[in-house]
Amino acid sequence: MKKNRLLILMLALALITALLLPACSKKEESPEPSEPAEAAETEETEEASVIDYMVLVNKDSELPAGWEEALDVTAITNSVGDEVQTEKKAYEAYCALKEAVEKDLEGYDKGEVRLELDSAYRSVEAQQKIVDDFTEKYGEDYVRKYVAVPGYSEHHTGLALDLYFTIDGKDIYENEDLVQYPDIWEAVHARLPEFGFILRFPEGKEDTTGYAYEPWHIRYLDSPEIAKEITDSGMTLEEYLAEKK
Ligand code: DAL
Ligand code: ZN
Repeated sequence: MKKNRLLILMLALALITALLLPACSKKEESPEPSEPAEAAETEETEEASVIDYMVLVNKDSELPAGWEEALDVTAITNSVGDEVQTEKKAYEAYCALKEAVEKDLEGYDKGEVRLELDSAYRSVEAQQKIVDDFTEKYGEDYVRKYVAVPGYSEHHTGLALDLYFTIDGKDIYENEDLVQYPDIWEAVHARLPEFGFILRFPEGKEDTTGYAYEPWHIRYLDSPEIAKEITDSGMTLEEYLAEKK
């Protein structure tokens, strides 16, 4: 009887501890990426054995075949209750980035800021749903500027992360609300290279990236040195890779 009570108490304590820990401190599960993209299901798909962290996926370059078979993700639930899957190393780097940025923003005049993950890995089907929803909500012009054609989104790699934040626990989530906080984005962007990230769609670079400025969309490169080189040079990933060819 006593043994049972002790067991129940220990289980309750473990549960409370798990619930109190922020997502980045929790031991995460590692599911297969859900809803695999169509490309990954075809017979002729060649299996990639490792992830190329410098991969270019844009309006002209689609997701390499076999990518999803090699992709290892970490799944979390964000503050609005959505499951977000992120490539494993990119997720670890995001957690370190989050900790640094939140520390930098301590004392922010509008309240306590917490970084959150809106979206990282997306299947082709999930991207299509975004295209459909955004077309309905914002129209086709907006979608051309901000949303990739399914199969050509960097989000299929699991290495592109869309961030949002909470201020004093309130979710700042919609794109039109997120752009109202340039000071927070400045703090986020200042910390990206040291954790191996770049801002993927910078202001004024629409001609080379193909997309309008997205302060929330960051890309993991697995190399603080390369991320710093790209950031310091003011080049986009497209320009950097073209120069290195
Ligand atoms: N928002 C970026 C361009 C995407 O949809 O992949
Ligand atoms: Zn994005």
